[in-house]
Amino acid sequence: MVGGAGPSDLLGMGGRVTARRDRTAPVEGTTWLRRGRSYRAPLLVQKFPSELPFGFLGRVLPPRGEIDVTVEAYRIPSARALEVLQGARAVAESELSGGHGGSETAVIEAERDSAEELGRAVARRTQELWKVGLRFVVRGPSRIRVEAERVRFADRLAALGFRSRVPRFETREALRSFQFTGSDVRPAGYWQTLSTDGLATLYPFAEESVLEPGGVLVGIALSDSSPVVLDRWSHGSYSWGLFGMTGAGKSFAAALLLARTHWMRPDSDLLILDPLGEYGEFVRGLGGSVVSVAGGRGGHWNPLDPATTGGDREEKAARVGTMFRALFPTLRDEERALLDTATNQLLRRGASVPTFDDLAAELPAGDGTGRLRTFLDVFRSGSLASLNGPTTVGPLNGPVDVDLSGIPDDQMGFHLTYLLDWLYGRMRDRPGPKLVLVDEAHLLARHEATAEFLDRVVRHVRHFDAGLLLLSQAPDDFLRTASGRSLLRNLYATAFLRLSEVSAETRAFYGLTPAEAEWLPKARLPREAGYAESLWRIGGWHLPLAVVATTPEYEFLERRLGHPAPATG
Ligand SMILES: Nc1ncnc2c1ncn2[C@@H]1O[C@H](COP(=O)(O)OP(=O)(O)OP(=O)(O)O)[C@@H](O)[C@H]1O
Ligand SMILES: [Mg+2]
Repeated sequence: MVGGAGPSDLLGMGGRVTARRDRTAPVEGTTWLRRGRSYRAPLLVQKFPSELPFGFLGRVLPPRGEIDVTVEAYRIPSARALEVLQGARAVAESELSGGHGGSETAVIEAERDSAEELGRAVARRTQELWKVGLRFVVRGPSRIRVEAERVRFADRLAALGFRSRVPRFETREALRSFQFTGSDVRPAGYWQTLSTDGLATLYPFAEESVLEPGGVLVGIALSDSSPVVLDRWSHGSYSWGLFGMTGAGKSFAAALLLARTHWMRPDSDLLILDPLGEYGEFVRGLGGSVVSVAGGRGGHWNPLDPATTGGDREEKAARVGTMFRALFPTLRDEERALLDTATNQLLRRGASVPTFDDLAAELPAGDGTGRLRTFLDVFRSGSLASLNGPTTVGPLNGPVDVDLSGIPDDQMGFHLTYLLDWLYGRMRDRPGPKLVLVDEAHLLARHEATAEFLDRVVRHVRHFDAGLLLLSQAPDDFLRTASGRSLLRNLYATAFLRLSEVSAETRAFYGLTPAEAEWLPKARLPREAGYAESLWRIGGWHLPLAVVATTPEYEFLERRLGHPAPATG
């Protein structure tokens, strides 16, 4: 109590003011300060390492920005700076003449040399000396949380060679605001002397806001709420990846990006490979069409139709081989050869579009084709019989959702093979920008044939003004193969929503800092926060962003996502 039970309590207004002040009066612990529900735990730097990379602070700080950094710096006049350096050099000299041995001598010699070199630089005016104070303050809703975060952060600083110190019984002094006189009272050891280069390493943030004209909003920076707007079509690759555990908000974020792209550039052709059938209503909401592959709604493609490889019959024959290998993994070499020969003959023969009946008839009679015929029965009387006939999918305008729900797992690779051919053809043949969303992309990473194809698409579609948006739970499915890694390297932007864990491979591949790797499994989920926390790697940048939908966007998406489109003949 500030007022206690004194006269001010009896003064009506005065009493209320006192009471209000009480609620916000800071409470000081040994190493922390509480104001209201907010705890603050300071950490001071006692000794800097001898070398620091530029911008290191941006990489040791946790992405969510719950640690405030303040740097106070005052220039030391050159005459005084030279005195300081001469003093340092003299101390080193006298220690050396005092005869220290071994490694210590080397350290002192290095100190003397650096004082000498810096002295010359100060005399030449290429460097200056600065009186610098560096303070970190961890903020959070509980004492345990801020203290734990402070320990973790001190460890990360120690790994860089810093010696830090938790001020005890001097939290207020450590947290005191700045008067900018350079002579404020600060806890012992707070002030350090740094050169201009040393000071420059403390500037963590280069130009962090990204606002590309004509782009779409991808998120709001978690550190300062500045919007990040990216123009997919202005970079070397138009393809992006979105990774995150289940419920992290991948599908929502992807739909949001697609919708914003559609509203920004209505001429862009949006295509969705939708394994779970989640985007049907969304695509209808944008005025597009849905083809349900398993259900045959919206028509189907004849996988043997050369139109799906832009009329290239030889290419089609090769792709049919890939398709069969995906569907019948137990095919023997000689059976493959027989099928390949039959497909080639059939497709080389001329203008007509073959069916699976034609293919079965093309197989030579006799030995070695018995099992093959049984395999092909699936197209004649089995679950894929609907594909044994001409293509019935009409010209599809506007956004297209290819709904793959209901396709058995072991048939997915098969369907994806000819669907990707069709997509590739569409991208090549249509003018204007094209964006293909591939959800659950790990399904493609699983088969070498489809993974390679996907990689090819990512590398080449730029020439057709097209980009991919790949969604998967973790990059690891792709990191396992050479083609997968090549694919990941060719994504211009990669967003990590909450990951269940960050593997060593992912960390190394993306150059994630320990702070980032530690944070990603704790990034807030949309069901907790109402937005998705994420880390974007855009070109060389690492940006922690909130993926946020405006209210109308949210209403548009929430009503439509996750629901299969109703049947339409
Ligand atoms: N940025 C966001 N803002 C508001 N709500 C969101 C956001 N992202 C996701 N949600 C909501 O959170 C839930 C889960 O999101 P979503 O389905 O996109 O996750 P996911 O990563 O695709 O998961 P899964 O791997 O299971 O497909 C959905 O109900 C969605 O509406
Ligand atoms: Mg999803």
